[in-house]
Amino acid sequence: MNDEALRLDGVLVVRGGCPVLEVPSLVIPAGTRTAVTGPIGSGKTTLLLAAAGLIDLAAGSVSLWDRPYHSGRAPGALYLRRRLAFVAQEPCLFAASVTDNLLMGLRYRGVGKDEGRKRSAAWLERLGLSGLADRRATRLSGGERRLVALARALVLEPDLLLLDEPTAHLDRDTALQVEGLLGGALPGTTTLLVATHDWAQAERLAVRVLCMESGRIL
Ligand SMILES: Nc1ncnc2c1ncn2[C@@H]1O[C@H](COP(=O)(O)OP(=O)(O)O)[C@@H](O)[C@H]1O
Ligand SMILES: [Mg+2]
Repeated sequence: MNDEALRLDGVLVVRGGCPVLEVPSLVIPAGTRTAVTGPIGSGKTTLLLAAAGLIDLAAGSVSLWDRPYHSGRAPGALYLRRRLAFVAQEPCLFAASVTDNLLMGLRYRGVGKDEGRKRSAAWLERLGLSGLADRRATRLSGGERRLVALARALVLEPDLLLLDEPTAHLDRDTALQVEGLLGGALPGTTTLLVATHDWAQAERLAVRVLCMESGRIL
């Protein structure tokens, strides 16, 4: 694996006619854990979306593992996009079983059904979610849905995991469960970039904490 997982160069994102993200340079080394924190509206989600190649850039470029990923119109190059997983603050699960939700992402990445079922069962077990495997994902509680969204990302065994406010609106026990999962279940080779408005959580989850204000990293 390359030393550098993610690089942003001269990135500018404009929304509603206003610049909402300006990052002259940011390098995230592979296999590290970085948190992005800052007040509401400071640009944390926008930074993650730019890194994931999911929004258009007005200027600049994003590279993944030393390869050009995205320099204008989203989405980024598919062969690199398949190596990352992005979990949105309000994840959208499919109206299907939890296992089927996990299988869909694997199928897009060319993993066969038998192998996919094995991997899904193994990850659900590792995350303590085996009991939810056959439940319809859209009928789960908010906390359960968030855990399943995390499982759906982890089963892909991504090289880069982007998490947006992974514990927002969760009760304290579920939030601690999510933090525990991230602490214990994430392979050491996975690069983590997590946005959280909670400074203390940023320090618990990451080694490096970036603080944002008005679309800039301080
Ligand atoms: N679709 C949009 N249209 C216009 N402005 C937006 C849009 N999405 C986000 N913004 C603005 O971009 C800024 C950064 O938002 P965001 O990245 O979501 O911040 P954070 O995640 O730190 O709360 C905010 O001022 C927000 O209002
Ligand atoms: Mg946000």
